[in-house]
Amino acid sequence: MVSSIRRLLLGAMAVAAAASHGQLPPIDDGTFQCIRDMTSVRGFYIDNLNGADALAGTLAVAESETGGVYPVGSVVQLVPTEVMVKREAGFSDATHDWEFFELDVAPEGTSIRVRGTTDVVNRFGGNCLDCHAKAKPEWDLICEQTHGCDPIPLTPIMVKAIQKTDPRCPPVTLTDEEAAMLKALMGGGS
Ligand code: HEC
Repeated sequence: MVSSIRRLLLGAMAVAAAASHGQLPPIDDGTFQCIRDMTSVRGFYIDNLNGADALAGTLAVAESETGGVYPVGSVVQLVPTEVMVKREAGFSDATHDWEFFELDVAPEGTSIRVRGTTDVVNRFGGNCLDCHAKAKPEWDLICEQTHGCDPIPLTPIMVKAIQKTDPRCPPVTLTDEEAAMLKALMGGGS
């Protein structure tokens, strides 16, 4: 108990120290937790590795109707297994300093499967950057449904069902429609 409180405090201090130097805390398996603990914006989730003040900057860009550049430390997710993190300036010109991650998620936690810039391929064989680079420049590689990217084969209800069944989160009840969509997605038929 005491040691877990100590760990939490040390973690919070590391975040504060990194933020004050314009850097990021280390990004590892423990960085990524229940997707629904993040801040919801329309259909996706955001956070900032540098804490609440920095999150306000991420939120402002996510909510902007004209786009903008996401601040350092921004974390963006649509589904539990795929993440974009805005790294320090100069990290990668090709990806506008985004790092792409594909994760394995389980009740025990997260493990990073692949991470990087131009060569991260998801489990369906798609290269993250190839798709996300098609977003019009003002959207900083964020696709949503109207920014110019090729669509993914997930409807908003499927996405919602996938978010609700993140195995790292406490269980919640699906609507009948979400359950049916999820079943179809898993190849369960009717
Ligand atoms: C086939 C093209 C394609 C591939 C490959 C792809 N994405 Fe996406 N991604 C999209 C589209 C389109 C959306 C928006 C979907 C929606 O909102 O309905 C999206 C949404 C996202 C979002 C939420 C923010 C946004 O851009 O709308 C993140 C984060 C994300 N993808 C990360 C990744 C990562 C990481 C990878 C690789 C591991 C990846 N994506 C691979 C097309 C793709």
